[in-house]
Amino acid sequence: EHLALWGGRFTSGPSAELARLSKSTQFDWRLADDDIAGSRAHARALGRAGLLSTEELSRMEECLDELQRQVDSGRFAPDEDDEDEATALERGLLAIAGDELGGKLRAGRSRNDQIAALIRMWLRRHARVVAGLTLDVVAAIIEQSRRAGDVAMPGRTHMQHAQPVLLAHQLMAHAWSLIRDLRRLVDWDARIDESPYGSGALAGNTLGLDPQAVAKELGFSKVVDNSIDGTSSRDTTAEFSFIAAMIGVDLSRLSEEIIIWNSQEFGFVTLDDAYSTGSSIMPQKKNPDIAELTRGKAGRLIGDLTGLLATLKGLPTAYARDLQEDKEAVFDQVDTLEVVMPAFAGMVRTMVFHRERLESEAPTGFALATDIAEWLVKQGVPFRHAHELSGACVKTAESRGVELLDLSDDDFRTIFHDFVPTDRAPMVHEVLSTSGSVSARNGKGGTAPERVAEQIESAVDAIAPL
Ligand code: ARG
Repeated sequence: EHLALWGGRFTSGPSAELARLSKSTQFDWRLADDDIAGSRAHARALGRAGLLSTEELSRMEECLDELQRQVDSGRFAPDEDDEDEATALERGLLAIAGDELGGKLRAGRSRNDQIAALIRMWLRRHARVVAGLTLDVVAAIIEQSRRAGDVAMPGRTHMQHAQPVLLAHQLMAHAWSLIRDLRRLVDWDARIDESPYGSGALAGNTLGLDPQAVAKELGFSKVVDNSIDGTSSRDTTAEFSFIAAMIGVDLSRLSEEIIIWNSQEFGFVTLDDAYSTGSSIMPQKKNPDIAELTRGKAGRLIGDLTGLLATLKGLPTAYARDLQEDKEAVFDQVDTLEVVMPAFAGMVRTMVFHRERLESEAPTGFALATDIAEWLVKQGVPFRHAHELSGACVKTAESRGVELLDLSDDDFRTIFHDFVPTDRAPMVHEVLSTSGSVSARNGKGGTAPERVAEQIESAVDAIAPL
């Protein structure tokens, strides 16, 4: 027969409908190990407060070890009538320790401070896994950037050819946003590093327990300053959820590029067979499913975040049962990222870029027009006129169906004649090459090869301590 955790004031047990709604073991059982660790620390706090004798404490620790073994082997698992992981584990402990001793562990704690501590413990551990996977994606991007060397490609704004950039520069743009996500995880860990254990149901505990010692044992460096906040805030959960969603969005942005680059019209990149899929009907098809699933799952990661925030927004303090809804959102995000990122890293690492195609497209679409304008500025022409003159070059080239670098010396003499001496005008050809254009952008953060090489080293340094 199941022991409810309450009962004293009730004349009947919960209805079947309530039990079905209330039940959370189907998702919160994954907190069992953290719960048992919390119980060990709590038992020792009871011991230090004189509420468990030395013998009771050592017997309690043995029983918790046995419970952990039973959980590990699957001999003990929640059954139909357990409401949540804490209810199930209490049943398991009572079966091992007996009602007399087992019934003492609940003193001085509530499922409210308990669950608030457990979600923090679980998230901190899994955030490290997510960070490791993110680091591997960054490493794959860095590898590709190194392999890309000085290959240039069309840089785009509004999806239109804008200015040539190095392929490595374009790829590294994605590495930096992921590096910021990693830093966010580090910053977040410092904020979530406070134990709610000892907050009790909401107001703290009367039993003289030492929350600081419990915190230490559970890997927290501090205890929350306010027991109401400790039991009812989930901003640290929501902040993790944001970072997870942001990682999803950042991966999705790179996915979108890969999908476009992989299209026949672009032909910039080929995906490895092991990281592509085929079609059940069209024998020729080779599809970028990893990139598409990553892009698709970003929607789900965002949904988890917005669902969680919506759950939190109307809650009065302190604990309300709505808070049980925090877990599935972040569990789903971690599960999603843990399956997406290894595939994504493999896809990135094995992509093969088509250098000739990238290089031949790089200067097209009049992408060197800014270089002409800036060359004119160096000749002393005010930028307003320089922009006009370069625009006139584009117009001439466009009307003839050629690129800017196909214009003749005479073309430039004619177009520039009011502003540049005729003997100097043809010298504009010096900047009319992809490599000239790229190398000229040599300020910090620019696409010049030496700046990009430096940038890659900075990224390597940035991830080293993470
Ligand atoms: N299962 C709940 C949760 O996940 C914890 C239990 C608190 N229940 C309660 N009636 N105070 O948030």
